[in-house]
Amino acid sequence: MQATIVTLPGDYIGPEIVAQAVKALDAVAARCGHSFAYDERKLGGASIDAFGVPLTDETLAACNAADAVLMGSVGGPKWDAVEAARRPEKGLLALRKGMGVYANLRPCRIHRQLAAACPLRADIAAQDIDIVILRELTGDIYFGRRSRSEDGQSATDEMAYSAMEIERLARIGFELARARRGKLCSVDKANVLECSRLWRETVTRMAGEYPDVELTHLYVDNAAMQLILRPQQFDVMITGNLFGDILSDESAAIAGSLGMMPSASLGDGTRGLYEPIHGSAPDIAGQDVANPLGTILSAALLLRHSLKLEREAAAVEAAVQSVLDAGYRTADIWSEGCTRVGCAQMGDLVAAQIEALL
Ligand code: IPM
Ligand code: MG
Repeated sequence: MQATIVTLPGDYIGPEIVAQAVKALDAVAARCGHSFAYDERKLGGASIDAFGVPLTDETLAACNAADAVLMGSVGGPKWDAVEAARRPEKGLLALRKGMGVYANLRPCRIHRQLAAACPLRADIAAQDIDIVILRELTGDIYFGRRSRSEDGQSATDEMAYSAMEIERLARIGFELARARRGKLCSVDKANVLECSRLWRETVTRMAGEYPDVELTHLYVDNAAMQLILRPQQFDVMITGNLFGDILSDESAAIAGSLGMMPSASLGDGTRGLYEPIHGSAPDIAGQDVANPLGTILSAALLLRHSLKLEREAAAVEAAVQSVLDAGYRTADIWSEGCTRVGCAQMGDLVAAQIEALL
């Protein structure tokens, strides 16, 4: 198949990790006769430096014309002094909104080779943990009105949700749960927030359409606790933008390393935005030590969800597993007895393994 993929390397370690994911995609293309055309664009600080804004209209238009978008990471100390409206993160938020990718899938699975890196008690870490956090991505307090009083001493951020926004996200959650282990946990703060009461009402109303899915509700504080006490109870979790941001970092810690975690952001069609959930890691940028596996696994999600190439997606995931099985580790996941490799070498190892598997 032919596909156009916009790449947005972004800032600091972004270009290093995206280059490795492109190696993986090239290996897939070479073995399976696909042709992927890459359209590299700037996002975040890189875009501020080049064009004065974190996301240009041209870049957004290119993303909306592509089959999929692969992103690295944005932001960092270089742009900390930039005013709020033009910060690198604003470019990412505008991109998510502009692409209409309202459903953010963040899978959390403990890679058995990295079980030692899981901070939970060994008997909990040994259980089968396989969770998908589905985070609403284009609403909530992230996109509400903000204000600061004239004297600068008080501020407001508005949280807002419509039933339509909740429903379209919940529908993906119900469908996903149906295709997995049939359990959907909806996370809110309905004992305090009006948005959460609307959230709970809407999800509960939809449950009638999915009699085969077991729906539960948890308050977000309790959900945060349950995730570390009994993570194996969860299958699919749906939640709002802010709660999902927080819970997905918690789930990444459970999985052992932020560097391993991929994500897919989807809207109504097949076009999606794929990015690792970690940040731009300014402290290790340019040293060839970053872990590219989160981005490579995001490329696997791109193959699966946007290009519908399931066999190729599974091969990328299997290649990552076998490179880990062979004992290769970047610095963040290294442990005694393993072979330490750099970012580019990890990318080469995975690409070679993909070629062997396909
Ligand atoms: C994430 C990040 C972003 C978010 C930041 C960089 C704006 O933390 O993707 O989880 O809060 O969504
Ligand atoms: Mg986050």
